[in-house]
Amino acid sequence: MEHIKGLIFDLDGVLVDTAKYHFLAWRRMANELGFDFNEHQNEQLKGVSRKQSLALILSWGGITLSPADFEKYMRLKNDWYLEFIQKMQPDEALPGADVFLRQSKAAGYKIALGSASKNSRLILDKLQFTHFFDAIIDGNVATESKPNPQVFLLGAKALGLTPNQCLVFEDAIAGIQAAHNGGMLAVGIGQPEILTQAEVVYPGLDGLQLAAILNELKTFYKA
Ligand code: G6P
Ligand code: MG
Repeated sequence: MEHIKGLIFDLDGVLVDTAKYHFLAWRRMANELGFDFNEHQNEQLKGVSRKQSLALILSWGGITLSPADFEKYMRLKNDWYLEFIQKMQPDEALPGADVFLRQSKAAGYKIALGSASKNSRLILDKLQFTHFFDAIIDGNVATESKPNPQVFLLGAKALGLTPNQCLVFEDAIAGIQAAHNGGMLAVGIGQPEILTQAEVVYPGLDGLQLAAILNELKTFYKA
């Protein structure tokens, strides 16, 4: 396992719980358009780009918008979302994220972000996490959505590593698939019943030891 040299983290759902804010902002938008959706449907939006999220939500409401209105509602939703993010405090990081990043960095691993979000830099700043990252690949850089591996491949490249030297931490099914499509192993953060394709799954980063994860992953490498 010595050859894992880089860790690539998804942001939303792995390092911070922004899903609740995405939900509130999208729901406000749906309500303005005269319909509603629930938290179960919201699960389908995790890891999905802003544009694709809006398309999906509109399909739930049976609504078609002109291209100009589509842009308008994407902007509105983001403005509402940013109202929450602007107020975000470092203690809104998910439990254990800070310690895990700090220990990984101290152990000499290169660290990248691989997120679909266009707001990732602001969120990392709010959490005071920016200094942990050697590379930030996000929705402003990547043109393809997970499960396309682009975001993670760019992350590996930015770290100066090959994909098989990198380990991905993801909470979304599409993210696990993106890691695999890029030739990387994936650590699922969430429920094993949902993240069935991940090599290993943990409920969160809290209390996790990187050495223990690498040890579990040994079985997925050819001798
Ligand atoms: C992450 C979240 C999605 C969100 C996407 C784009 O993947 O899980 O829910 O839609 O980022 O985020 P943005 O901040 O650019 O709207
Ligand atoms: Mg996520």
